[in-house]
Amino acid sequence: MHHHKFNDFPKDFLWGAASAAYQVEGAWDEGGKGPSVWDSFTKLPGKTFQGSNGDVAVDHYHRVEEDVALMAEMGLKAYRFSVSWPRIYPTGRGEVNEAGLAFYERLIDALLAHGIEPVLTLYHWDLPQALQDEYGGWEDRRIIDDFERYCVTLYQRFGAKVKYWVSLNEQNYNLTNAYQLGTHPPAVQDRKRFFAANHIAFLANARVIKAFREHVPNGLIGPSFAYSPAYPASCAPGDMLAFENAEEFTNYWWLDAYCFGRYPQAALAYLKESGEAPEILPGDLALLREGTPDYIGVNYYYTLTYTDNPLGGQTMQRINTTGQKGTTPSSGVPGLYRTTPNPHLETSNWDWAIDPTGMRIALRRLSSRYALPLMITENGLGEFDKLEAGDKVQDPYRIDYLRSHVKACQEAMQDGVELLGYCAWSFTDILSWLNGYQKRYGFVYVDRDEQGGSLRRVKKESFHWYRQVIASGGKAL
Ligand code: BG6
Repeated sequence: MHHHKFNDFPKDFLWGAASAAYQVEGAWDEGGKGPSVWDSFTKLPGKTFQGSNGDVAVDHYHRVEEDVALMAEMGLKAYRFSVSWPRIYPTGRGEVNEAGLAFYERLIDALLAHGIEPVLTLYHWDLPQALQDEYGGWEDRRIIDDFERYCVTLYQRFGAKVKYWVSLNEQNYNLTNAYQLGTHPPAVQDRKRFFAANHIAFLANARVIKAFREHVPNGLIGPSFAYSPAYPASCAPGDMLAFENAEEFTNYWWLDAYCFGRYPQAALAYLKESGEAPEILPGDLALLREGTPDYIGVNYYYTLTYTDNPLGGQTMQRINTTGQKGTTPSSGVPGLYRTTPNPHLETSNWDWAIDPTGMRIALRRLSSRYALPLMITENGLGEFDKLEAGDKVQDPYRIDYLRSHVKACQEAMQDGVELLGYCAWSFTDILSWLNGYQKRYGFVYVDRDEQGGSLRRVKKESFHWYRQVIASGGKAL
């Protein structure tokens, strides 16, 4: 299917950009905020690139008005941001911190004043440290009530102003790093504990979606899923089976639980056999079915290609966090699948395959399987950028990446996908969790590195490009 004539983007298409609290705000101990697990984790030696942390980040907390003015200048129709749970409840629960709510209220009001639709993420990984200490965070069912109380506080305060909500951001990526790879807090490497914590996160997700219906009846809510569609390395049946395994274990395990309230059959059978299946209590699956999303948020960066992996073969490996091209090892689960480079695709310096067609495939797979509207809640290119004389940042590689992916959105819509919007990652440069400040994503350059900097904002070439795309309703790509 090669289309030569495209339908226009809908008039109300949400042309957006995104961020997350820990990656932009800074002010980690101001305004009554309590510490999050990331505040502690990043200070342990050797955990992040050159020990970078979000104490200051890009100082968005103190520059909200300046940043929103840049969004307005760009003509943004939507801005996705996350609320930091420990800003609202410094120890996870108990007394609500009014200064925290007031900060987000200022941001939301500034966005609305410029006609920018806020897209509010309830959880982008910054769990209150107190809950990690008290009961092990996502490993204990007590978190379900605490998370619901926090979310309902936000529904009550912002439900009349905010229409689009994201429940959990990349539960799949975050918990895989936290409990399998040991690269996110609490840095555990234990598959049984991984599947158990992940199950509890599904219950929490469903519970807050259920509560959302009562408090924000006219809003829309869904999780943001890190979707890396699987490809088979070849048409050899062993590779095809590896691909089926990967899609089921790394994608449908989450999406089926969110949208159908059940786990995919072959993966569940395998985990029961291996003794790693989560404990499913009476009422759990009923709750999942009561808390299914209105739409699926899709964070798309790359596809992954899979090949056969024998027993005793390749295990899970850590990702490239340095930007040294070609340093990502094959990673997998013995007996099921392992990754292999796709010879048909170029990669970024962090070895992420650049694949706009993969985004079209992603949108179609999800739309066909779940019959829900979709929103691209993240898509972008992390690269080294250079600030040149005369305050110029030339990032044609980023423009190419974004252009080809916006086109893929258009193609997917032509294929019948209902797409609510496209949020590029990210608006300003951000702290990349494990990759420091050198892996840049923004339309707006922030003058800082691992050591610090002036924090001055400089519009990149991609800023001007995206402004035109939005102004033309997607015609001037
Ligand atoms: C997603 C996250 O994993 O991808 C973002 O939701 C993150 O917070 C983005 O920054 C890019 O990943 P990275 O590792 O390059 O920062």
